[in-house]
Amino acid sequence: MSSSPLPFDPTQFPRTGIVSSFDELVTARLEGGVNALCWPRVLDGDFGEVERSLPAIDGITTLDEEDLGGLNLNPAGQRAREHLINDQRLLTARGLQPSLDIVPSGEPDLGDSPVRTDVADWHVDSATVKADTYLCTYFGEATEGVLNEDTLGQVHVPGTRAKLLQLYGGADDANFRSYLAEHFYDLHYAANSEARIYSFGIGHLWRIATQYPGSPVPPCIHRAPTTGSDQTRRLLLIS
Ligand SMILES: [Fe+2]
Repeated sequence: MSSSPLPFDPTQFPRTGIVSSFDELVTARLEGGVNALCWPRVLDGDFGEVERSLPAIDGITTLDEEDLGGLNLNPAGQRAREHLINDQRLLTARGLQPSLDIVPSGEPDLGDSPVRTDVADWHVDSATVKADTYLCTYFGEATEGVLNEDTLGQVHVPGTRAKLLQLYGGADDANFRSYLAEHFYDLHYAANSEARIYSFGIGHLWRIATQYPGSPVPPCIHRAPTTGSDQTRRLLLIS
């Protein structure tokens, strides 16, 4: 039997689901508490060569087909490039707006707020209308997910809420809740010490639920990996 491409054991993560095609990934309903669908794939080609061929960057940089086309790659790198371009086209043909990003390594700038608001912290994506997030890590450390029941919203952690209230300098009322939302504090979560965390793996295309009014499922809580400055840059699709 060939090794399973699944990045996780779905029986351990009841909020995840597996689909067998791109069509199913896009059309399946997120329901019954499932908020993360995975289309498992083993992509051939050398994505590392693509990463190594890209110039130095200061921050997250989006690549277009022209950028990719200009790279001088060996056949394995060319194969990887075909996958990168094909995925962009697949999603674009469905009316989505994918972005292929090269993400520098190194610790995020945490600032001094009591609640982090960077993507390497557990968070949910939010939208004002029905929308999902599509994600694929092609190279580097993979995105991670955590089960909602193993987390608590940062604004509901008593000590953290007290600090935020102090920062706000007012009463714990509707205006304070608006303040929390305006600063994205309400989108961030603390995972407990026993939290069940899964990796999105490499090459698999995911569709995850965002937080939007009327969503039938809770949003998927996820984070970008924290990479040391000695680690490779990440090559990532996000839509
Ligand atoms: Fe996100």
